[in-house]
Amino acid sequence: MISARVATHGPRALRQASTQVLKALNGLSSSGAGPRSTFVSVHLVQLNSTPRHQFSTSPKSSRIDEFFVEKETQRVRKTPPAWPHPVYSYDDMESVVVAHREAKTRSDKFALLAVKVLRWGLDFATGYKHEKAVALNEKDPEAAKKKYAMTEEKYMIRNVFLESVAGVPGMVAGMLRHLHSMRRMKRDNGWIESLLEESYNERMHLLTFLKMSEPGWFLRFLVLGAQGVWCNALFFAYLLSPRTVHRFVGYLEEEAVITYTRQIKDLDAGRLPKWEKLQAPQIAIDYWKMPEGHRSMRDLLLYIRADESKHREVNHTLGNLNQIEDPNPYVSEYKDEGKPHPCKDLRYQKPTGWERNDII
Ligand SMILES: [Fe+2]
Ligand SMILES: [Fe+2]
Repeated sequence: MISARVATHGPRALRQASTQVLKALNGLSSSGAGPRSTFVSVHLVQLNSTPRHQFSTSPKSSRIDEFFVEKETQRVRKTPPAWPHPVYSYDDMESVVVAHREAKTRSDKFALLAVKVLRWGLDFATGYKHEKAVALNEKDPEAAKKKYAMTEEKYMIRNVFLESVAGVPGMVAGMLRHLHSMRRMKRDNGWIESLLEESYNERMHLLTFLKMSEPGWFLRFLVLGAQGVWCNALFFAYLLSPRTVHRFVGYLEEEAVITYTRQIKDLDAGRLPKWEKLQAPQIAIDYWKMPEGHRSMRDLLLYIRADESKHREVNHTLGNLNQIEDPNPYVSEYKDEGKPHPCKDLRYQKPTGWERNDII
């Protein structure tokens, strides 16, 4: 079993657990810096010891051990994914970039502010101070490495936590549009499909990471609490202003692209040695149709980052449209198919979203 669990109990264990998650999240928040160049300039290192705690653990070797195994039944051979994933070319995935859409309207500014507040809240809750990290790095890089360095374990905790909340907005928005369509007895014009597909895709990210690490009870508790609040908040927010929620998700996805870009960079720089020989789990190979020879952890991160860039684009685009009348440009057929237009794969990438006048 690749995962480790600590066998401590009582208040001391709880205290240790809290310290561990704070440490982990400190690291996480260092990569969640703003879309516009607020990266921590701390070099990341591998910690010598593998933390043993109750939150989550990462693989210790290139071996994948199953945290949840596919159920076998007497008659069913396989249950393939409901939404087949579009095929991404390797060059297209490598060309995904960190980007930021300027907040132009009041609704945009509110959405961006909400993302910033959430990040500030996470930083505050975990005691992470970006400025302090940068200042410490200038004075004592070694101490900064020890305090703020990201490891495979910390990244994995971040990925599991973030993916577990990332799957909520699309499902809430899709459900509300579904109900709206029935209530008003009007067509939805294709939005529901993309929104549900997005949340499905996020859940596949989560399942993939769960194949590689076993979450402990504290992380599970965190996810449960976050989901309870998050789901309800999004429900009411989408009823009030769907446009603002799409913009908000667009900004969140900008952060997701930053996070995975950092992981790829750290992997390339040799700062995540445990991931170097790690292979993607079968669930990922099947879902993304990963070709032979391109099934490493790095490849997996490229696929997931490309998905996040697509969510970023889709939500910024949906935020530009008339929420009631406009068709979903991602499932529409165009009169001039030869002209670049929104699509499900990475052919035409528009990190800041398509403007309404160009596509409707
Ligand atoms: Fe994701
Ligand atoms: Fe996402």
